[in-house]
Amino acid sequence: MTSEPRPVTVPEFAAWKAQKRRISVLTAYDFPTAQALDSAGVDCLLVGDSMGTTVQGWDTTLKVTLDQIVYHAEMVARAAKRALVVADLPFLSYQASTRQAIRSAGRVLKETNCQAVKLEGGETQAKTIRKLVDVGIPVMGHVGLTPQSIRRLGGYRVERSAERVTADALAVSESGAFAVVLECVPAELAASITAKLPIPTIGIGAGAQCDGQVLVLHDMLGFGGGFSPRFARRYATLSDTIKSAALRYVADVAEGRFPADSESYR
Ligand code: KIV
Repeated sequence: MTSEPRPVTVPEFAAWKAQKRRISVLTAYDFPTAQALDSAGVDCLLVGDSMGTTVQGWDTTLKVTLDQIVYHAEMVARAAKRALVVADLPFLSYQASTRQAIRSAGRVLKETNCQAVKLEGGETQAKTIRKLVDVGIPVMGHVGLTPQSIRRLGGYRVERSAERVTADALAVSESGAFAVVLECVPAELAASITAKLPIPTIGIGAGAQCDGQVLVLHDMLGFGGGFSPRFARRYATLSDTIKSAALRYVADVAEGRFPADSESYR
């Protein structure tokens, strides 16, 4: 008899940090992919607003809406038997006021089975994080490179201001977040922040000393074109696999090899 796995909970993240047990996080946007990642033992699935680039084909995350996050988060959370599922709050779904943030994050928790939300920003979002946590909504922070600020930043680049990133990470932690993503931060700085914080740091382009790592699924699977950052280790070349399967299918149809008798009804 196979027993259902015990679902990962938010408080487990702090316990894992204390035990120095590294945390694996991947993005997921749909049911079958989330099922595969969950059964592989990925600790946390992030329904990232990276869906704007990976799934929707835009060049930024800015166009993703809260409705779209809810739609995808619902599928991912339904598939996950063990992994903690966290959904991104998209651009302008929380920055206007704490009231707006509660409504948006509340919607995610009420309409999907996600356990937590993630939002971008450090000191500027401290009050919002505190309020969300106070009403019972677990928050994962995100500092360093924050893609929702791409228009102000003018491009994706490493965030090198140690003072800025450290103050932001501390603000997120002190506001009650249960974990914080460090994106595109020099490895030494990420290690120093990791040592200072009581909550786990989840690195993406932030070196090996973070408490956990996150990658965008399409980057690690080699699925979709476009720019691949140096930190995005490729574990597969799915675009090639899909293309070669489709080429064989097209040829089989053209040559009358598909369907065979065994694939037809009598
Ligand atoms: O949207 C996303 O996928 C993210 C990761 C890059 C951490 O925020």
